[in-house]
Amino acid sequence: MIDGKLSGEVYYPSEEVISNANIKDWDALNKAATDDYEGFWSNEADNLHWFLKWDKVLDDSEKPFYKWFTGGKTNIAHNCLDVHINTHRKNKLALIWEGENGDHSTMSYFRLYKETCKFANILRSLGVTKGDRVTIYMGRIPEIVIAMLACARIGAIHSVVYGGFSVESLHERIEDSQSKVLIVSDGAYQRGKIIPLKNIADEALQRAGIVEHVLVVKRTGQEVYMESGRDMWYHELMNLPIANYNNKCEVMDSEDPLFILYTSGTTGKPKAILHTHGGYMVGTYTTMKYVFDIKDSDRYWCAADPGWITGHSYIVYAPLLNGATSFMYEGAHTYPYPNRWWQIVEKYGINILYMAPTAIRGLMRFGDAWANRHDLSSLRLLGSVGEPINPEAWRWLYKVIGREKCPIMDTWWQTETGMFIITPMPCVPLKPGSGTKPFPGIEADILDEEGKPVKTGEEGYLVLKTPWPAMVRTIYNDPQRLVEQYWSRFPGVYMTGDSARRDEDGYYWIIGRVDDVIKVSGYRLGTAEIESALVSHPAVAEAAAIGIPHELKGNAIHAFVILRQGFARSEKLIEELKLHIGHEVGPIAKPEKIEFMDTLPKTRSGKIMRRVLKAKELGLDPGNISTLEE
Ligand code: WT7
Repeated sequence: MIDGKLSGEVYYPSEEVISNANIKDWDALNKAATDDYEGFWSNEADNLHWFLKWDKVLDDSEKPFYKWFTGGKTNIAHNCLDVHINTHRKNKLALIWEGENGDHSTMSYFRLYKETCKFANILRSLGVTKGDRVTIYMGRIPEIVIAMLACARIGAIHSVVYGGFSVESLHERIEDSQSKVLIVSDGAYQRGKIIPLKNIADEALQRAGIVEHVLVVKRTGQEVYMESGRDMWYHELMNLPIANYNNKCEVMDSEDPLFILYTSGTTGKPKAILHTHGGYMVGTYTTMKYVFDIKDSDRYWCAADPGWITGHSYIVYAPLLNGATSFMYEGAHTYPYPNRWWQIVEKYGINILYMAPTAIRGLMRFGDAWANRHDLSSLRLLGSVGEPINPEAWRWLYKVIGREKCPIMDTWWQTETGMFIITPMPCVPLKPGSGTKPFPGIEADILDEEGKPVKTGEEGYLVLKTPWPAMVRTIYNDPQRLVEQYWSRFPGVYMTGDSARRDEDGYYWIIGRVDDVIKVSGYRLGTAEIESALVSHPAVAEAAAIGIPHELKGNAIHAFVILRQGFARSEKLIEELKLHIGHEVGPIAKPEKIEFMDTLPKTRSGKIMRRVLKAKELGLDPGNISTLEE
């Protein structure tokens, strides 16, 4: 900083943006939150409804298993719905939905409340009670919101599996969570085609025998198999007398589980990240209010999928907690033409649009004309999430979509953090590609191999030093893994798995993952999942997967395989392996390139050295290979 001026390419907020913002002085808020961290969060929690007030804001007696608002009784679904229907928001739209095929619907808070109560009664009548796990596998349709809220309302733990995942991913998640109920849709529209979700689920269920009830939402209407005694239509159930509006909301302890969400980690199977009612509610509510600066008159659109944390936190829970109107779109952003999103913004008068850099890059390549054809003047705020946004895409978004008047909130966070962690607010000066600074009161740092803070501008491990309300509480079924994965590398601090640097103004710049997680189009995948899908194919003896920088996707997957005896290398086999991964994990996990190998570089202890493969692929020096076996 020179003379109060920030260094580099800086975009200062306009007078208009500042005068309309909920928070006009970031430094003052940050100081207040830093001086009295617990008081800050306690004040925010006071804006929500508690059946019984908490005794303690932050309980750190069992670090790193931090607890928040202990002794408090609440229910996040009650705060999303019940509290609004006794206010002016009763008839306000909670959800606006558009299908890829042009179908559309709206739902007021009152209606969403009633539908949720009805479905909660159905779930209870099937024997689902507090603490039971329910798997949800659907496209982006309003029923996914109803299903999540109904689970929360009765204290069941929802486990949403992204509709782009396939047979083995779904099977593994049902099995690990031991869900007795699966809520699925017959299919989902994507790029004019139908993804046969129910068929995929049937195949997954053949591998997992624990599911007793499958509740099927009719969306696409194609013929599906319905197993008698197991499968029931959602719309038929919702017409039964039991599906009435009288539903008593379960009173939950602040620390009672709300949901689990599987995410890829460094090794092995995906981890079930567990979030709770109290802290998650306070964290998502507060960050949405301050960062997206939500107003009662806003129409807000988070273009993510509810099946990922972005959708959980910022399509479903945070907007509803804030009494906002949330828009959801079912389909692909370029279908049928690259103006689909801009058409939607114009048609519905969207004010806030939150999206992934990969989508921005994907739309940018079609040029400005598609966007310029539409009136985008309703937009006042933009958001980006999922991976670093390259300055070029940032500037395009700022200029062509935001017409140089919409600040861009580049929000860095994770499934594990539950809420935004490094993020600007509208009143904060922006630098393209930087998420600016940690949310008020939260302390981050960048450490070297020894755990010492690096110098300004140097790259290191991004860590968090302050606990925050929406933080992951445990890994379901495997609490020890929480300690090992996040709290062991540098004792006492949370290790994010990302590398980053900090500039002279204290702004953070995320570089990327430093572990075996690959971000493909913003989707998080583990090398382990791709590799285990490959070796489940009869032709494959061993496999390694790496991420290689890719212009549109951020990263693309390259895989290396050693074939079993008796199998011949061929282009046809490569295609077959790609299809196999698509079928087992999901289309997003399909490698861009598969290469046959005689050996894979390994350490003497037998670990595949992916960085050597990556260096070779990029034509770089593989670095220290003294531990290489051969
Ligand atoms: C990883 C977490 C939480 C939202 C969706 C992703 C990367 C996320 C940003 C950003 C640079 C980002 C990080 C992080 N990431 N947001 N604004 N700038 N990188 O959640 O699937 O748990 O992935 O996404 O690498 O660790 P997730």
